[in-house]
Amino acid sequence: MDRKEFFSQIGIGTAALLIPACLSGCSKSDSAPTNVDFTIDVSTGSLATNGGYLVQNGVLVARTTSGSFLAVSAACTHEGTNVQYVSSTNSFTCPNHNAQFNSTGAVTQGPATKNLTKYNTTLTGTSLRVFS
Ligand code: FES
Repeated sequence: MDRKEFFSQIGIGTAALLIPACLSGCSKSDSAPTNVDFTIDVSTGSLATNGGYLVQNGVLVARTTSGSFLAVSAACTHEGTNVQYVSSTNSFTCPNHNAQFNSTGAVTQGPATKNLTKYNTTLTGTSLRVFS
């Protein structure tokens, strides 16, 4: 094997390794849960307090400072890191590369380019239903 042939094979091998990694990374943007339908008791835990939030079943559920509820897909559409709820601005931020999303999940700052998926919420007593 001569030098040119060696580097040619290394290049092909590297490309073969990177393609599946890219496909895996790219698919993160489509990882929002589907067919969501679950309930949470909001009388205890982080959702008992205005401004609190939690992640369950891949969905971030937040209680705003005014006491209403929001639910969006938890995985950042950039590379899949779980976003965090920021009660002071009623928005979501990604701690990984600082993408920002408004309360409806729409991107307001990159590097993410795709919105978070928003889910419906209905409160009955202290039972919050989160659903698609
Ligand atoms: S993973 Fe969220 S901004 Fe990169």
